[in-house]
This record gives sequence, C-alpha cells and structure tokens, in this order.
Amino acid sequence: SPSDPDLVERARAAKEKLGSKVFVLGHHYQRDEVIQFADVTGDSFKLARDAAARPEAEYIVFCGVHFMAESADILTSDDQKVVLPDLAAGCSMADMATAEQVAECWDVLTDAGIAEQVVPVSYMNSSADIKAFTGKHGGTICTSSNAQRALEWAFEQGEKVLFLPDQHLGRNTAVRDMGMTLEDCVLYNPHKPNGGLTAEQLRDAKMILWRGHCSVHGRFSVDSVNDVRARIPGVNVLVHPECKHEVVEAADYVGSTEYIIKALEAAPAGSKWAIGTELNLVRRLANRFASEDKEVVFLDKTVCFCSTMNRIDLPHLVWTLESLAQGNLVNRIEVDRETEQFAKLALERMLALP
Ligand code: 13P
Ligand code: SF4
Repeated sequence: SPSDPDLVERARAAKEKLGSKVFVLGHHYQRDEVIQFADVTGDSFKLARDAAARPEAEYIVFCGVHFMAESADILTSDDQKVVLPDLAAGCSMADMATAEQVAECWDVLTDAGIAEQVVPVSYMNSSADIKAFTGKHGGTICTSSNAQRALEWAFEQGEKVLFLPDQHLGRNTAVRDMGMTLEDCVLYNPHKPNGGLTAEQLRDAKMILWRGHCSVHGRFSVDSVNDVRARIPGVNVLVHPECKHEVVEAADYVGSTEYIIKALEAAPAGSKWAIGTELNLVRRLANRFASEDKEVVFLDKTVCFCSTMNRIDLPHLVWTLESLAQGNLVNRIEVDRETEQFAKLALERMLALP
C-alpha cells in the first residue's frame, strides 16, 4: 500500500534536519515505505560493513532486526549510537540459541572429549552473546554470503565445526558446497539432555549443527518448487540458503539476498524466476524487473513476510527520526564492553576472511 504522504513528509523533514548526523541502513527485507529512506540497502554482511564505514555519523538508524543493530554497535565507535526503530524487532532464529544453552553445549562437547577440536562458526543471525562465545572459543561469524569461506577457514583451525544457530545454512553449505555428506552432520537439540546425541555420535561428526531455523524460509517446501515448475515452464528457481536442504536440492540456484539481486540483474530479458526468500524483497524485485521483461514470482502460494522485520514501519521510523532531530536518543542498542570485545574478535575474523 502507498505510504501516508504526511508521514513521508515528516520523515523527510526530520532526516533533512539531522543531515550527516544520521545514517539510515535498510535490510533488503524491509518494507518499501522504510526502504525509501535508507541511505544504503544490503544484506546483513554488507550492512555490517557499511555501518563500520560511517565514523562521521552520530546516529546509525538500523532498519532491520535486533542482532543486526547489535553487530553495528560492535563494529562502530563508542560515541556512535545505533538505534533500532522498534525494540520488538527481534529474530526468531537468533532467539533459538541462548548464552546458557550454548555454554551447556560446550560442556557436552568437553565431556565427550572433543571441545579442543571444535571451532564455532556462528551465523550473523545470532545475539551478541553468541558472537562473544564464538570469539572466545576461537571461532568466526559468517553470513549467508560467506558461509563457505568461513567453514573453510574453520576447518583449517580445527577438525570439527559447531555451527549455530541455523542448521539449514550449516548443512546446505557443508553438503552442497564443500563435499561433506549428510552423515558428516549431526543435529544438536538444546532442549534434550546432551543435545540428544551420544558421545560417539559427536566424535564421529564433522559438523555439529545447532537445531535452529528461520520460520520464514522454513515454510518453502519441495511441493512449492514442483508447483511453480508446473505453473511456469522454464522457470529458474532461486532460493536462500536458510531454506531446508531438500528445497535447496530441488532449486536451480542458491544464494544470499545480495546474490539473488545480482542474479536477477544479470539475467537475460524474457527469463522467468521463482524466488524463495522474504516477500517484501521479492515483491520489490518483481516490480523492478518487470520493465526489463524479467518475470519474478514468489516461490510459494502463501504470503511469507518476516513479521519482525515488518515491525519497522513508517510510523516507527518517523518517531525515531523526529526524536533524534529533537535531541532525544531513543531505542539505543548498546552491547556491554566485555561482550563487545569478544564478539568483535569473531566479527573481525569474518571481515578478514579472504
Ligand atoms: P542475508 O541478508 O544475509 O541474506 O540474510 C537473510 C536474513 O534472513 C536476514 O535476517
Ligand atoms: Fe530472522 Fe528469518 Fe526474519 Fe531473517 S527472515 S530476521 S532469519 S526470522
């Protein structure tokens, strides 16, 4: 739906008043009404870098979810303030791994006698606490656009990887891109004693996958792929690596949100694409590429927004920008020093990956 012209004008005026003091970052899954005010858009990897590259901005307004704002706070200087327009914009996947659960898991790995061989690799979609755990234990962060490089690095440091919190990104990267087998992967369930695994299973595994997933990408199925192929002959199926392994196997191409955009930019006129990722992005791409005669459709028949990404809407953005313009610092996301120190180590290892 078109944005309220009054709110658009208020956002524009507040942003103009703030000038170079504010820098607005917009994740690709944000609503159009928010994206129109983003100084840059990107996937979570690009946005982490973009935040770090803006030392002159006093306020970084992060239109995305909580873990992204935390990462921006970790990567920016202490006097820069990172602001999340709605504090309830979390991520259900990130919430699937808590600091206590991960500490308990490390005890299980220690008891099985393998902790010293294990390198943690944590997806960007995790809390600052989990990133700090990762840094402390010699591991790195990854995103959906560099998971393979992160895993290659990790297997140079140790024999096994604890991958958290997204089992699908971990499994898809290991099996699809790195020649491992499904048998090389075990699933650690934080709700079961010892993760539901025996010490022997842990010792035999190469990849210990945390049992987390994205509720948005988890909704795509092999049926969605088969249906769209039947409906649109010649369609290219392109999905995000947070989708289930069998969906990724059934697709033609797999990649991060940034990869998806680049693939469509490079696609020939007349080509047809079914995209398995969040709906705000897919709708925007469908509109954008229609004029180039590229047909872009959503992979599933049902609607599939990320509800927490959608919490950042124009009213929240207006409130945030107007508050900042009046000198009221609202909704600051600030990671405590000790957490920040170790989380930064893990993030910097990622940024240094070749
Ligand atoms: P990317 O932006 O890394 O593609 O990740 C998608 C996502 O789910 C972000 O929450
Ligand atoms: Fe989290 Fe999935 Fe939403 Fe991304 S799309 S913020 S992983 S719930």
